[in-house]
Amino acid sequence: KAVEPVKPVVVKEPEVEEDDGKKVVTIFFGTQTGTAEGFAKALVEEAKVRYEKATFKVVDLDDYAADDDEYEEKLKKESLAFFFLATYGDGEPTDNAARFYKWFTEGKERGEWLQNLQYGVFGLGNRQYEHFNKVAKEVDEMLAEQGGKRLIPLGLGDDDQCIEDDFSAWKELVWPELDQLLRDEDDRTVSTPYTAAVLEYRVVIHGPGDAQVEEKSWHNANGHAVVDAQHPCRANVVVRKELHTPASDRSCTHLEFDISGSGLVYETGDHVGVYCENLDETVEEAVRLLGLSPDTFFSIHTDKEDGTPLSGSSLPPSFPPCTLRTALARYADLLSSPKKSVLLALAAHASDPSEAERLRYLASPAGKDEYAEWVIASQRSLLEVMAEFPSAKPPLGVFFAAVAPRLQPRFYSISSSPRMAPSRIHVTCALVYDKMPTGRIHKGICSTWMKNSVSLEESPDCSWAPIFVRQSNFKLPADTKVPIIMIGPGTGLAPFRGFLQERLALKGGAELGPSILFFGCRNRKMDYIYDDELNHFVESGVLSELIVAFSREGPTKEYVQHKMAEKASDIWNMISQGAYIYVCGDAKGMAKDVHRTLHTIVQEQGSMDSSKAESMVKNLQMSGRYLRDVW
Ligand code: 2AM
Repeated sequence: KAVEPVKPVVVKEPEVEEDDGKKVVTIFFGTQTGTAEGFAKALVEEAKVRYEKATFKVVDLDDYAADDDEYEEKLKKESLAFFFLATYGDGEPTDNAARFYKWFTEGKERGEWLQNLQYGVFGLGNRQYEHFNKVAKEVDEMLAEQGGKRLIPLGLGDDDQCIEDDFSAWKELVWPELDQLLRDEDDRTVSTPYTAAVLEYRVVIHGPGDAQVEEKSWHNANGHAVVDAQHPCRANVVVRKELHTPASDRSCTHLEFDISGSGLVYETGDHVGVYCENLDETVEEAVRLLGLSPDTFFSIHTDKEDGTPLSGSSLPPSFPPCTLRTALARYADLLSSPKKSVLLALAAHASDPSEAERLRYLASPAGKDEYAEWVIASQRSLLEVMAEFPSAKPPLGVFFAAVAPRLQPRFYSISSSPRMAPSRIHVTCALVYDKMPTGRIHKGICSTWMKNSVSLEESPDCSWAPIFVRQSNFKLPADTKVPIIMIGPGTGLAPFRGFLQERLALKGGAELGPSILFFGCRNRKMDYIYDDELNHFVESGVLSELIVAFSREGPTKEYVQHKMAEKASDIWNMISQGAYIYVCGDAKGMAKDVHRTLHTIVQEQGSMDSSKAESMVKNLQMSGRYLRDVW
């Protein structure tokens, strides 16, 4: 039989697509708090200066395509792309990357269809978490598997250390590659000197009569078809309760937001995003440091009066005209540690040359260790840094665009079920109150706001916040007969309160499978939250077994995982009957320890070796029977 000659495979060097004769580079970002987006834009700012002959597009992964087909169609045409991808919680993508990630990593076999693409990936994660940079790692690998050509090794940004340094180091690998691809032969030997882009903004100071615009803009805020992070709805606090007893030296707030008539809906297990305001004392300190009147009513524009864009103003601070006090309260993150780029922006506006020099030094490679120690390790806030450099008074445009990052919403696992509370969203929130290495007392912005909020029960002039719902996959099994195992110490109890409310609502009409809850707290007289309700769930039969670990009652610590080990055979039996396992709470300590315990239980009870047990636990995870809502 004649053998057909094998055709030699011609591997064509991919060419970079051109737009108006200019080569196009697409920079994608999957961002939650804005860091990945900031890096994407920083890369572009620098690249624009270096490669005048190329076009750079910064793209939000969610905005890129309306559906899977469009992702495929458009990605196929990309020839040079960079991805900035953050990993969150339990190895999850950011909200704006979720659709792309699911499509790209779980979808059908596509073969090597991305042969035209050259790419680089930078991940944003935290080494303290189990799934360090999982999203970036997977996308990087899949891009290669599907035919893409990796230009530079995957960058693994670690937020536990200095992620900006990781980014800078990775960037240094990018330039030589781009020099090859984007510079003409004759430019290649000339290196373009890099100058930081100067940000320019137009700030308009309005007259006092304009002040009404401010409140009006809030009432209009939810005149949108959907309520989401960009269009939150205003929700009143209707109930507020302290859950710890006075004997406790900590605090945990139970809060109920009224969502009736707002169009906002939620499901048991979802998260609520809350936009809170900085404390008055924080705002006052910022006002003092900026040296401006808090009543200054202003707006920031990225174009000139005639509508033409201002050069270099790539990050429009998009908020409605308001007073400085309001802008500082609502839009500025004043308590996080400043990034190096922030130190440079402050340096540019420091009237005292020695202060400017010191700021530049801290941001420079030579000052790396000092920055790591003085800023990062000591968790020095932006305001603390500004206080050390009193001559650095950036103008408003620069302050809101380049110095203070946007204040981000805080997410909470909703602790109610819409079957019990259709018009309310319940939140269970532990107060964050820590002494920092500099001696500063760090008061959690949102948890302090919640603790101090005034409910409608207390006053018609109650507190309110813009809120929205983020869907989660932390859901009860569709079949109510399936057994469930819930593990949630502290405020990790929140979604399980929702689960149990849901089961209580379902009880009459559906057959409920067995359920077991492992809850942990310090002491039954201090922080045993919702104890009456939990007992009621047991009495009414929606919770088969309640097991509480008290960590500070006896001579030794008792944690939920110790209680799980005691119940190993029951847990194994439930798993054998198809149980779903849910873990909620702290990711760094508890969820890791619980994971290990689960592994041991499977290994011992199932009489298997460690690797077999590991693959069984992995299977539970993959099949959606082992779910975690961790932070
Ligand atoms: P501790 O504060 O006494 O250490 C809710 O915060 C409960 O979780 C507390 O009882 C706390 O105990 C406990 N906890 C702390 N670290 C834990 C861990 N690694 N695993 C399980 N529970 C933990």
